Amino acid sequence: MKKRAGIAGLGLYIPEKILTNYDLEKMVDTTDEWIQSRTGIKERHIAKKGESTSDLAAAAGLEALKDAGLKSSDLDLIIVATISGDMLFPSTACLVQKKIGATCPSFDLGAACSGFPYAMSVAQGLILSGLYKNILVIGAEVLSGFVDWTDRSTCVLFGDGAGAAVISEARDGHGILSTYLAADGNYADLLKVPAGGSAIPPTLETIQQKLHTLKMNGSEVFKLAVRSMGDAVLKAIQLAGIKLEQVDILIPHQANLRIIQAVAERVNIPIEKIFINLDKYGNMSSASTIVALYEAVKTGRVKPGSHIAMVAFGSGLTWASTVMKW
Ligand code: UT7
Repeated sequence: MKKRAGIAGLGLYIPEKILTNYDLEKMVDTTDEWIQSRTGIKERHIAKKGESTSDLAAAAGLEALKDAGLKSSDLDLIIVATISGDMLFPSTACLVQKKIGATCPSFDLGAACSGFPYAMSVAQGLILSGLYKNILVIGAEVLSGFVDWTDRSTCVLFGDGAGAAVISEARDGHGILSTYLAADGNYADLLKVPAGGSAIPPTLETIQQKLHTLKMNGSEVFKLAVRSMGDAVLKAIQLAGIKLEQVDILIPHQANLRIIQAVAERVNIPIEKIFINLDKYGNMSSASTIVALYEAVKTGRVKPGSHIAMVAFGSGLTWASTVMKW
């Protein structure tokens, strides 16, 4: 039987504090009706003051380790997919390594909302090469610190959270059947935090102009998301050597319900086969797909032998997909 990598354990950490659409009505010129009808989001969770991305990531990572029946010392590598790390450097993964008491190599991976499937694909390659046995892959974000809370076109969309998976060699016939990664830097300007890096280092002016907060051309991103995610799902299914009808559950990036519905139509997959939890969390970027997978597994939507397709899309632009047999 061909050697495969797969998920050996899952973890989750969602901050306690909930920010509802009604709360947002008091902050910006918006309504619950607009947010729900245009996005499907009802509420999102927000990290408390002092709670950083590495805190969320470490908590999710510890649960994934326990779920896999492993100790921190069993880990060969930690990859944290994030675009809202604790600092520019050191990497959030190094901070997580300390917090969970591991000693293995650790690094961050930045592919925005595609971060989790990108990181899982890197882990898969390292397991298949024989270099490492157990890799902790975490998607974690505290985006609330990078959102302009006076911009109604973006602040209603995002939330904080983390999910984690231990990737190890899979049982015979199970595991990751395919991965597909893509990027197009020509669209880099559509979704970005302009300042704070080497292109525009932070100054008093950049702070006053709020250039350290997230800027998005929503309608352009919307169109490209539908096309790219639709194509990526079909690509991963083809690479896995299965038929569309064999997919039991599709875990898409959770940015907007209308994007998910349009992808379902484009791919011709029944909406009932798609796992949706964005109503509770909003868009958690790198954390969205892994948190959705966690909930799909823990609520029994995923069964032993289920074919799971996962697809994500985000800033970069980046997009990625994978098919797993559970
Ligand atoms: O995670 C990476 C991927 N990100 C995404 O996939 C996000 C993709 N984009 C989207 O989800 C949608 O484009 C949005 C939800 C961001 C926006 O929805 P839309 O249907 O594209 O709305 P729009 O930007 O075209 O805005 C329509 C109207 C505008 O008013 P006018 O110009 O028609 O008078 C906006 O000013 O809605 C207005 N608007 C709002 N109204 C109430 C924008 N945001 C709000 C708001 N509340 N929060």
